Amino acid sequence: MKDFVNQIDKRRTFAIISHPDAGKTTLTEKLLLYGGAIQQAGIVKGKKGARAATSDWMEIEKQRGISVTSSVMQFNYDGYCVNILDTPGHQDFSEDTYRTLMAADSAVMVIDAAKGVETQTKKLFKVCTLRNIPIFTFINKMDRESQDPFDLLQEIEDVLGIETYPMNWPIGSGKDFKGVYDRNNQEIIAFSHDGKVGVNQAIATKAKIGDDNLDELLTAPLHQQLQDDIELIEGAAADFDREKINTGKLTPVFFGSALTNFGVEPFIKDFLALTTSPLARNSDAGLIDPKSEDFSAFVFKIQANMNKAHRDRIAFMRICSGKFERGMDVFHVQAGKKIKLAQSTQLMASERETVDEAFAGDIIGIFDPGIFSIGDTITTAKKPFKFASIPTFAPEHFARISQVDTMKRKQFVKGMEQIAQEGAIQIFKELGGGMEEVIVGVVGVLQLEVLEHRLKTEYNVDIRITTLPYAHIRWIENEEIDVKKLNLTSDTKCVEDFKNRKLLLFTSPWNVNWATEKNPDLILAEIGK
Ligand code: G4P
Repeated sequence: MKDFVNQIDKRRTFAIISHPDAGKTTLTEKLLLYGGAIQQAGIVKGKKGARAATSDWMEIEKQRGISVTSSVMQFNYDGYCVNILDTPGHQDFSEDTYRTLMAADSAVMVIDAAKGVETQTKKLFKVCTLRNIPIFTFINKMDRESQDPFDLLQEIEDVLGIETYPMNWPIGSGKDFKGVYDRNNQEIIAFSHDGKVGVNQAIATKAKIGDDNLDELLTAPLHQQLQDDIELIEGAAADFDREKINTGKLTPVFFGSALTNFGVEPFIKDFLALTTSPLARNSDAGLIDPKSEDFSAFVFKIQANMNKAHRDRIAFMRICSGKFERGMDVFHVQAGKKIKLAQSTQLMASERETVDEAFAGDIIGIFDPGIFSIGDTITTAKKPFKFASIPTFAPEHFARISQVDTMKRKQFVKGMEQIAQEGAIQIFKELGGGMEEVIVGVVGVLQLEVLEHRLKTEYNVDIRITTLPYAHIRWIENEEIDVKKLNLTSDTKCVEDFKNRKLLLFTSPWNVNWATEKNPDLILAEIGK
């Protein structure tokens, strides 16, 4: 029993969010380096082109010679069991990216010190705030010309609306990035490397404010600057407030360079100590305690055809309470059926292997014969319950899809429905219409190509894709409203999703404003609940 509770207490399950190129992949790799999951970090050339069609992690796997997964990396560090969730970015940015955040207990936001808060970070941040999870900030690329650190903090506060608390402070930037000042220990950590920048862990030299050798260690101007900065921060920064951190109202901020490893170790140490162990989760039976004896989990991602040879699907589940044991019988609440969890894989930093046991906070992948949907709950609780559903996120790209050969209607409908069930696409129809005319909405435009490819290879159906000009979607919250009487711009379209919820598709934010201003009774939501 004690071991079971200890196992849960030491779990830290988080996702890293960032705008493409801010350094998420590099930081992930460095966390693996410090966690001992890889021996050396490889600086890889020419990865940009190669990366286009695959997940970042698959690229790490391919180019850096380690085996990772498309879902979770697990390693032990300092007594913690760390689970890093992959949030696909770049061209494969999709609803999966958002949904993964539903499985995390906290998020690390990587910001490029020269660019500040960028669009994709804003979107991902918004999703994190839905659940009020703790958010930690790593301001990366301090080894390059950067914005003023005070300005960066101000930007985070203004653009994202979260308070900031600098945990440490950069000493210099660009070529002169010497180290960080640890506010808690009032200690200077100066970094150097062994000549191979970023390959091995950085060498840290510690010193206290007032030490004689600081001018030498940091150079006199940087020493002076640090003293001035410290005075300013201590006078102006928000107070450290654990409660605000835990509820995502205040973000602890760290400075560093994932490329050179400067600042990575202070970050990982403080982050793991401050971030939360598995959180209780909301269900229709109230909050579910992770340390409950009853096992429970929910499906947050379904990945089809991981193995091309046969059509397999893996349902990725986040364990929310108790202990998983391979072969256990559980109740699949949505299907109302008992099932045996026999084949399970957990995909780890070392190798993809079968797991025999796992604990609340962990992610497991279960082979899915087509029975699971996103958001499903499984549990051993005597009184089964359902976890709060996963929201439907707003797609930003739309297309009308039709089949080239109308004789293949059955396969077309089956393929579209299955792919939508996996959550890779959202499908909409005309009000009261059927599958004869389908509008597809996706979060990332690559999903349309994936759809075309999968219908062809898995269902033998060719499709025509006509892109549509809509870019904004709103669910109508007050369903009783008569949509025919709404005053809308002529290019606004009303459709239904497959849960028969009504939605409006808009071509511009201006039209969204028009709809809300001209129809005071209309209640619109950006995320479908
Ligand atoms: P992402 O996953 O967030 O998209 O970013 P990724 O880690 O792939 O990093 C994007 C680029 O930024 C990479 O350069 C990477 O080397 C670089 N980078 C990451 N962290 C730092 C940092 O702390 N300092 C500096 N100076 N650069 C950093 P690239 O040109 O795409 O590839 P490469 O050929 O340089 O490796």
